[in-house]
Amino acid sequence: METKEQEVLHGKCRKNYPNVVVPQRGRGFFGIGIEYPVTAKNVGTLWRSAHIMRADFMFVIGRRYTKVATDTLKSWRHIPLFEYESFGHFYKAMPKDAELVGVELDSRSVPLTSYSHPQRAVYLLGAEDKGLSAEALEHCTDVVQIPGEYSLNVSAAGSIVLYDRLLKNGSFGTV
Ligand SMILES: C[S@@+](CC[C@H](N)C(=O)[O-])C[C@H]1O[C@@H](n2cnc3c(N)ncnc32)[C@H](O)[C@@H]1O
Repeated sequence: METKEQEVLHGKCRKNYPNVVVPQRGRGFFGIGIEYPVTAKNVGTLWRSAHIMRADFMFVIGRRYTKVATDTLKSWRHIPLFEYESFGHFYKAMPKDAELVGVELDSRSVPLTSYSHPQRAVYLLGAEDKGLSAEALEHCTDVVQIPGEYSLNVSAAGSIVLYDRLLKNGSFGTV
């Protein structure tokens, strides 16, 4: 287990944090994205988490913001962001043999706490105002929910799912 990887951190946030544990790449691959996001800030925040949690890609479906999403780690230099016009456009481009995992408070969603993440997963979150579309939910292999009485901010929800994946897959080693 590496304890430091200063090259991974860029820009203003680059610091020599003491005793850093850097997540290791696990088997398979994973990406994460938002359907019809309203704010660039949420996309930027999730992109930053995706970068730190070693996701392979980020995506947005039908973006509704005009400002380009950004963050202080300059994640766009390290993780590609794919932009799709519609759910259908995205679904056609799904990577081979990957499972679509919806992240939503939905009648069919299972608690994240007991969820085993697929080796090849694409996590899809819903819009800040409307949540995941019925079309997207229909196409998900699994839908997971983070326990709680209220809905979380979309980028916070995505970050928790990524952390859960790494924790369960042993990417943090024995800490
Ligand atoms: C702010 S929420 C959407 C709330 C929307 N107004 C609704 O009632 O459906 C934005 C997205 O964050 C994710 N989310 C928020 N809280 C969640 C939770 N507890 N479990 C799973 N996903 C969650 C979902 O992807 C959701 O579509």
